[in-house]
Amino acid sequence: MDQKWNESDTEVFLRYGRVFVPERGELAKTFIDLIPANHDEDFVVVDIATGGGWLTETIASTFPKAHVIALDGSPEMLKYTKDRLEQYADRLEFRHFDLFDASWLNDLPNKVRCFVSSLAIHHLSFQQKQDLFKKLYSNLQNNGVLLIADIVKPVNEIGRRSMSRSWDDVTKKQSLKLEGNLQAYEYFLNAEWNLFEHPGDPVDKPSTLMEQLNALQQAGFSDIDAWWVKAGHALFGGYKY
Ligand SMILES: C[S@@+](CC[C@H](N)C(=O)[O-])C[C@H]1O[C@@H](n2cnc3c(N)ncnc32)[C@H](O)[C@@H]1O
Repeated sequence: MDQKWNESDTEVFLRYGRVFVPERGELAKTFIDLIPANHDEDFVVVDIATGGGWLTETIASTFPKAHVIALDGSPEMLKYTKDRLEQYADRLEFRHFDLFDASWLNDLPNKVRCFVSSLAIHHLSFQQKQDLFKKLYSNLQNNGVLLIADIVKPVNEIGRRSMSRSWDDVTKKQSLKLEGNLQAYEYFLNAEWNLFEHPGDPVDKPSTLMEQLNALQQAGFSDIDAWWVKAGHALFGGYKY
C-alpha cells in the first residue's frame, strides 16, 4: 500500500517549512528564471502539491496574468493556502488530488505551460515517478516545462554524509536568520527530519538525481538539467518543444 503524508506533518511543515527547506528564496528565483513565459503572458501553471503555497504565490505574484491550479491532498493545507492567497483568488484554483492516482490529469485544461512541484514527488516510488513524468509530458503544451524541486537519494555513503551535514548546517543557519533563535533547528533535530541521517520513513522514496534525469529523457523531455543543488535537494526538469 502507498504510505501517506499525514496532517501532523502538515502542521509542522506550515510552521517550519521556510527554515527546513534550504535557500527557499534562491529556489523561488530559479523557478522563475526557468519558466518559459513573458511576464505579461496569460498561461496555465499546475503546482503539484502546493502545501503552504510559497511556489504558487511566487508564480502568481511574478506573472500577473498566469492562472495557477494548485493541487494538494491535505484539506487543511488547501484551506490554509486558499485563505492566505486570497488576493490572487481570481487566478488561483485549488483542487484536492491524490498523488498516487493520476486521474487528476483528466480534468486539466488543454494547454498547460508549466508543471511545477516542490518536495512532493519523492513520495512516489521510482516506477510511479517514471509513469508520472510520461503523463506530465503528454499533458504539457509545446514550449512547456516540468520543474521539480525535491530531495534526492544519495548515490553513496560519502555523499549521504555530506548531504546530511549540509542540510543540518543550513537549517541551523536559517533557524537563526529567519526565526532569531534555534527553536526550529532543535525541532528539526528532535523530529529526526533530516532523512539523510534518519532514513526509513516509508512515506519518503527519493530517487537519485541521475535516475530522475534519465526518466525525464525517457518520458520525452528535452533540455533536461539540474539548475540548483543544495544539501541533498535539487531543482531539475526538462522542456517540451
Ligand atoms: C513537504 S510538503 C511540500 C509543500 C510545498 N510544495 C512546499 O514546497 O512547501 C508535501 C506536500 O505534499 C502533499 N502530499 C503528500 N502526499 C500527498 C498525496 N499522496 N497526495 C496529494 N498530496 C500529497 C502534502 O499535503 C504537502 O502539502
